[in-house]
Amino acid sequence: MSQANIAMIGLGVMGKSLALNLIDHGFIVTGFDIDPTHRARAKSEAEPLSQQQGKGRFLCAESLAEVLAKLESPRVIALSVPAGAIVDSLIKDLINAGLSRDDIVIDTGNSLWTDSERREDEYQGKLRFFSTAVSGGEVGARFGPSLMASGDKQAWDAIQPMWQAIAAKVNKEGLPVGQFESGEACAAYLGPAGAGHYVKMVHNGIEYADMQLICEAYHFMSTVLAMSAEQIGRVFEQWNQGVLNSYLMEISADILQTLDPQTGKPFVEIVLDKAGQKGTGLWTAVNSLQQGAPAPTIAQSVFARAQSSQKTMRVNAAKRLRTQTDSLADIDQQQAVDQLRDALYCAKLTVYAQGFDLLKVTSDKEGWQLDFANIAKIWRSGCIIRAIFLQEITHAYCRDPQLENLLFADHFADELNSRCCGWRSSVANAALSGVPMPGVSSALNYFDSLRCETLPANLLQAQRDYFGAHSYSRVDDDEANKYHLNWSLEPRKQIRV
Ligand code: 6PG
Repeated sequence: MSQANIAMIGLGVMGKSLALNLIDHGFIVTGFDIDPTHRARAKSEAEPLSQQQGKGRFLCAESLAEVLAKLESPRVIALSVPAGAIVDSLIKDLINAGLSRDDIVIDTGNSLWTDSERREDEYQGKLRFFSTAVSGGEVGARFGPSLMASGDKQAWDAIQPMWQAIAAKVNKEGLPVGQFESGEACAAYLGPAGAGHYVKMVHNGIEYADMQLICEAYHFMSTVLAMSAEQIGRVFEQWNQGVLNSYLMEISADILQTLDPQTGKPFVEIVLDKAGQKGTGLWTAVNSLQQGAPAPTIAQSVFARAQSSQKTMRVNAAKRLRTQTDSLADIDQQQAVDQLRDALYCAKLTVYAQGFDLLKVTSDKEGWQLDFANIAKIWRSGCIIRAIFLQEITHAYCRDPQLENLLFADHFADELNSRCCGWRSSVANAALSGVPMPGVSSALNYFDSLRCETLPANLLQAQRDYFGAHSYSRVDDDEANKYHLNWSLEPRKQIRV
């Protein structure tokens, strides 16, 4: 009996879907899960697939030792378990079960990138540690995810054929193609162990912001323009035909046109407005603060989720803080909707610019040499933030891999310059009517700060020097020369520090 090409440990939703996807593409997969019901479910779902021509097979294992015995050498073992301590304890169990130094262990969970870096060091000489961040949820994992791989380069040679086979594919125009059609695979080797999970973390930060922006557009149309959920859903459907085409726009259009089976009301209106989060957006925001690479709209979208969760306080505030607002009674609905479309598009571009800037800063610090065109390429399909304009982002970074800021690419600079008025009007109208637009306005502030040759940080530096003697540089001297003004003496005297 032939040996398995790969093992999947953890047969929950993601692990099972990846295993079935591998079998679909002709690979023999052995699998194990501590929970016997997960093992049985994977076995029964793999069974009908295995009987089809050209498909692989599932060899169910009852223990880690059995997993190792069923694998061809060098063994390739993918872990699909929750991020955190369980990954390390499983790796230790595998070592105890007889893993050898040439065997490859791939962490496919949503791990923190610094854990992946640590694991690469910690398991050196015991096994080849590799990581692959997976985006696309259950459906993506089953029929074509986006795979962000990193770690031991030689291990990639063994893994690559499998990952390229199961990943989502795009055609020459960058558009998604079917599971078994040929095309460019949304799977790539990105660098040393931490790189894949880092890129996925930033992907999730962008995902948080993108979702928040769409929610703000919905909120504005519903409150200021008094449009129904169904009408807004139709607007989103229209927007999805143009530059805003994306998976998140598509599902939002669908959600808004869905009725609650229990009450017949618009489904979105029966969902409690308290956002949950597993934490990857928070990781991105914290990391952007630590790196000094501003991603304010990503951070703002994490704050927005937190503020949504303070429901009781918001209910009280709605009664207590009744400020004067403008009802915008004369607003032209069609014009406001068009402005909002431009606002959403510009803000979205700005969020991607923040994400790619964060990637650039960290890549430089870590020496990863991330290939931004490649990252944009593997986000074109399979992942949650897939969007039509990722093809244009790919082109921008192919033309200039050292692009200082994504918004400087001719195509995007032109788009922003021509659509900026709508963006400003939407933010202004939201502010006048007292409707929150934290993401869209934070993006506009990022954009305007970026465009601002002189920021008021001159006054800020003077304040720091005033109360803390923290020194300042002069505009008429070399920046490296630092000065302090002796603020408490008259006449005030400058000294070089
Ligand atoms: C993906 C998603 C996935 C998950 C998010 C949800 O790329 O497939 O990002 O990883 O759905 O982590 O995150 P929150 O629960 O924090 O919204």
